[in-house]
Amino acid sequence: MRISVGITGASGAVYADRLVAFLVKNVDRVYLTLTPTAEKVLAHEISDRESILLRSLNGQLNSEEKEVLRLFKNNDYFAPIASGSSVPDAMIIAPCSVGSMSRIANSISSNLLERAADVCLKQRRPLIIGVRETPLHTIHLQNMLKLSEAGAIVAPLMPGFYHKPESIDDLADFMVGRLLELVGVDHELYKRWNARMI
Ligand SMILES: Cc1cc2nc3c(=O)[nH]c(=O)nc-3n(C[C@H](O)[C@H](O)[C@H](O)COP(=O)(O)O)c2cc1C
Repeated sequence: MRISVGITGASGAVYADRLVAFLVKNVDRVYLTLTPTAEKVLAHEISDRESILLRSLNGQLNSEEKEVLRLFKNNDYFAPIASGSSVPDAMIIAPCSVGSMSRIANSISSNLLERAADVCLKQRRPLIIGVRETPLHTIHLQNMLKLSEAGAIVAPLMPGFYHKPESIDDLADFMVGRLLELVGVDHELYKRWNARMI
């Protein structure tokens, strides 16, 4: 499976970090793009030297990670994910700012992340928008409706508490698990509701 991950300058870099760390170990290829603001927010929110995103940006991936993870500059329209001819199986954008979400809803394609999302929409591949902002005004809501009508799945980053998280990683893993379910990737990141009855 080939999954594209886009990271924007919304708060919640921990979601992206745990998502990418999981995918790199569990799928064939991960295409990664960060907006310039995403890189700044990441540096602000994550200080763990083991962070796969920080290591990726600093060229410190090990050989197994390098085999799976392809990092593209956000102005690199020559990247495969910019073209419908090599569209990935799915794209997850998390965390997604309302700015990027709104530009994608209007097909602006002003950078690789937005273009890659547009390609998924036109090729009818799952596009998951993990939007993070609160509160939301009418234009945000209208843009989310547009996206949903165009086939995207709007999945606001709203962790639940019914699985009794004991740490921030637990909270993030719940949300990451929900995103993975939307692109058909199996996981055991959190205990499912009434798991014994499934
Ligand atoms: C620390 C920090 C946290 C932010 N959190 C959010 C957020 O949760 N949601 C959001 O839509 N924008 C947030 N922003 C603002 C975005 O970074 C800003 O709108 C930026 O233009 C988004 O650009 P991008 O979508 O190209 O990354 C935050 C900015 C900073 C510096």
